[in-house]
Amino acid sequence: MPGDKSISHRAVMLAAIAQGRSQIRNWLAAGDTEATLGAMRDLGARIERHDESTLTIEGGALRPSADPLNLLNAGTGIRLLAGIMAGQPFASVLDGSEQLRRRPMTRITDPLTQMGADIQATDGCCPLNIRPAALKGTRYDMPVASGQVKSALLLAGLFADSPTTVTQPGPARDHTERMLQAMGVRIIQEDEAGNCLTVFPNGQLDPLDITVPGDPSSAAFLLVAGLLVPGSELTITGVDLNPTRIGLLDVLEEMGADFAISNRTTQAGEPVGDIQVKSSALSGVEIGGETVVRMIDEFPILMVAATQAEGETIVREARELRVKETDRIAVMAAELRKLGAVIEEREDGFRIVGPQRLSGGQVDGHDDHRIAMSLTIAGLIAAEGAIITDAACAGDSFPGFAETLVDCGALLLPG
Ligand code: S3P
Repeated sequence: MPGDKSISHRAVMLAAIAQGRSQIRNWLAAGDTEATLGAMRDLGARIERHDESTLTIEGGALRPSADPLNLLNAGTGIRLLAGIMAGQPFASVLDGSEQLRRRPMTRITDPLTQMGADIQATDGCCPLNIRPAALKGTRYDMPVASGQVKSALLLAGLFADSPTTVTQPGPARDHTERMLQAMGVRIIQEDEAGNCLTVFPNGQLDPLDITVPGDPSSAAFLLVAGLLVPGSELTITGVDLNPTRIGLLDVLEEMGADFAISNRTTQAGEPVGDIQVKSSALSGVEIGGETVVRMIDEFPILMVAATQAEGETIVREARELRVKETDRIAVMAAELRKLGAVIEEREDGFRIVGPQRLSGGQVDGHDDHRIAMSLTIAGLIAAEGAIITDAACAGDSFPGFAETLVDCGALLLPG
């Protein structure tokens, strides 16, 4: 699997502010992460690229960028970088694509302002204008479990005058805290579940030496393809199995999916392993609560699986899906309907009763990588196939997605 997107964003940002040379292997060379890499280069990081996914980064003090930093479509890139830039002794402007300019930024600008940051959003969105300000350690109770918000605050906390405490209502991904600890930052987990963290200021991060584990959110598309396409048998190797990322595996197991995990090991401070999957008869499932945040990026592909599962699949408490790259509840429901699916859209989720016959048709990726890839998998099981327009955005997180599917035996024709 290509490297994990979340870890790849974090690795280049943290390597750029560390003292010394960091080595990063299996880095994800994709649209979103390249945007972050470009921003760090604009901020003065010296980046040596041995091949697409092998980087050496000479870290140190950042310097101002003459131009606004352009994070393109990368929500993780802009939100985490805002946390770092809030603590710099120079001004910056963080911006992105039209799509990114529609995504909410007050979820980070409000708590950063509470820490003393001078950060202005534009109608609640980017561009973000950041000016130097003294940050003070604060306590912030996140209203929604979010890996991006938590990370922005932990990163700003590195530059504060005293410790910063962040609480989360559920298990948002913990890659930032794992990586910061590996780089010598003191972080105290105040409770057993890791829902209350205190980070201590640190301007001297140790360099990184990591091989980024495979992205479980990208593996999800192959996993569901393997389950749904009759007669499939697939092994997906080197997948990150961090408990905060594998809600989908738990849900698929409950749905009756036939998969097994082998070669468990630890890589870059993360649990990893191989997943062997066979096509399976699935049954419907109810999802809500903590599982939602642990599989937040996997709902578009879960919707495809749910159309093939026997009985009712109900998702609740997943309102966050409406503020991703697109409104993923509305967009997936609308696109799957074009293939003949019946989907009940709900304010905070959806209800799908299966199994349903997908006929076929033309659907659109909406410049949202996970929508485009989910629809591609739907096309594999649609009786007459599907034409997917705007499919190239898959490259924002999974370069070589179509080629990988073809290697697995899928019949995909370029448009
Ligand atoms: C991410 C966190 C999640 C996820 C996104 C990546 C991260 O977003 O949807 O794709 O790397 O921290 P939220 O933190 O907004 O839920």
